[in-house]
Amino acid sequence: MFDPYVYPGTDVLKNILNIKDKKTLDDAEADYVSLRLREVAEKPLPGNYNIEHLSKMHRYIFQDLYEWAGEFRTINIEKEEPALGGLSVEYSDKAKIERDLSNALAKMTSRPWTNLSLEDKVKCFSEDLAAVWKVHAFREGNTRVAVTFCCQFIEAQGIPMNWTIFEQHSAYVRTALVAYSAVFHDLGDLSKKEYLERIVKDAFQNAAAYISGNPL
Ligand SMILES: Nc1ncnc2c1ncn2[C@@H]1O[C@H](COP(=O)(O)OP(=O)(O)OP(=O)(O)O)[C@@H](O)[C@H]1O
Ligand SMILES: [Mg+2]
Repeated sequence: MFDPYVYPGTDVLKNILNIKDKKTLDDAEADYVSLRLREVAEKPLPGNYNIEHLSKMHRYIFQDLYEWAGEFRTINIEKEEPALGGLSVEYSDKAKIERDLSNALAKMTSRPWTNLSLEDKVKCFSEDLAAVWKVHAFREGNTRVAVTFCCQFIEAQGIPMNWTIFEQHSAYVRTALVAYSAVFHDLGDLSKKEYLERIVKDAFQNAAAYISGNPL
């Protein structure tokens, strides 16, 4: 499939730094993005946890790398997943990004978070994070932005969460999101929710240690 985001004949995303080697770009991206993520963690971007807020966060975090930071992708995407035997999650069609995201965020922002039991918080947060993530609104960087955005939303509700564990276990989180989202139009519902729910529960339960400055 033609991908206007990459340098022709490569799988390297066109970037502001003009880097044409994938490994060099991955390294530069990791450095810039972790710096920006730290800034956002210390000083959350103002907003109402709507579509504009999510776009603003993506723009901020990826501003050093991509011209299109903060803009929704203009192509459909597929990513082969070893955890799905090479199948891709069925990410939102490019024409439905805005609608799907708007539905996911409306659901997340309308829940009675502070009245939920731990078990319900875990179930609802996992469902909402996975829904935002499954849209994959941007050409790249969806996992980092979705996790940061949803965790900051929870903290804005006054609910503590140790979200450093999502960063420390980022490969696990991505695979858990894939497993959660394995629902296919032809093969049906093959999803496994327990992996994501397990780490989300840890993030809620270890919040006290995190706040006391002693993350586990
Ligand atoms: N929550 C996070 N905080 C910090 N770094 C993360 C986080 N999640 C993933 N990473 C790191 O970002 C890099 C890219 O990860 P990955 O490609 O899985 O996610 P993404 O680019 O954010 O999303 P996607 O490729 O699905 O659009 C990896 O090096 C990974 O370790
Ligand atoms: Mg990526």
